[in-house]
Amino acid sequence: MIKTGITKLNQLSNDKTFCRKELKNVSITLYDQTLHLVDGDQLAERILLLFSDERGAYKRTYQKRFEAFDLAVIKMLKKLPPPQTFHDCGVSDGRTGLDFFEKMVSAFPEIQYFASDYNPSVFVLEKGKLKVTLSHTGKILEILFPPFVFNKIKRDSFRHYPLNHLILFFIEKFWVNSLIKKYQQGLVKAKEQLLFAPKVLQKAQTDKRFQLGQHDLLQPFKEPDCIIRAMNVLNPSYFSETEFAQVIRNLYEGLRENGLLIAGSNQEAGTIVNGGIYQKKGNGFSKVFNSGEGAPIESLLLNFKI
Ligand SMILES: C[S@@+](CC[C@H](N)C(=O)[O-])C[C@H]1O[C@@H](n2cnc3c(N)ncnc32)[C@H](O)[C@@H]1O
Repeated sequence: MIKTGITKLNQLSNDKTFCRKELKNVSITLYDQTLHLVDGDQLAERILLLFSDERGAYKRTYQKRFEAFDLAVIKMLKKLPPPQTFHDCGVSDGRTGLDFFEKMVSAFPEIQYFASDYNPSVFVLEKGKLKVTLSHTGKILEILFPPFVFNKIKRDSFRHYPLNHLILFFIEKFWVNSLIKKYQQGLVKAKEQLLFAPKVLQKAQTDKRFQLGQHDLLQPFKEPDCIIRAMNVLNPSYFSETEFAQVIRNLYEGLRENGLLIAGSNQEAGTIVNGGIYQKKGNGFSKVFNSGEGAPIESLLLNFKI
């Protein structure tokens, strides 16, 4: 079998393959072309559905992904001393961060909200019809060569798509490798493509309380915050056990005393969130709010001791 991808905007708007079995890769290079379209939000969600960052974490996200959970969290926060600073990590294109920011500011108008992601932008090299998308560390994420879109991180199965692998081998050998070499020699420039959604960028420009940036959960936080939120990112498929030990230590040190960690995971918009609120107390975390089965890393969090 051979699998083509979605390489043009009109193919994306007319995409009839939206069934899980034969879902096509959509090139991330179409992301900024959706920005001004009426149905741009849905198209952007579709583009991010199968795209992953260089660590193999999916960038998928949905508008109003956890409304009920967010409202329950706000209700809980209102019972506690008002927070001043908030760090929302792993926000992908930021739409869920913006959803939550809107709720936070109406409850706590003084809040300083920072929304970050590991890969908030990608870099695109272009030569003729070929487009090579790189991460901020220079790793190849995607190769577009119409009619193909090769996801280099989440690769198609070799058993089902041997021809795709063969074609990719030749494209890399004859075109990609030389383009990368020229880029490394400074002979070709890459174009930065921000992955934050337009309304998210716009909010950051018009409201000083809402800021965007880059942060890697594997690295220490710059300064301790009152609340850290990490939704659909603290999943066992994204971090090894050793990495989780580091991530949890960073979260602990990234919170002020009595600070709160909001963590949880769900599927599509509106599905139940397995999560909770965990408070930094003394030398560990204690749970102050539960949703569903609790966060996927709950046992690690509650067993953590400094
Ligand atoms: C599935 S998306 C979740 C997006 C959003 N929080 C939501 O719930 O819809 C996971 C996001 O976590 C980010 N991520 C993965 N590893 C990370 C890390 N080490 N530090 C920060 N973000 C990370 C990915 O780049 C991706 O954007």
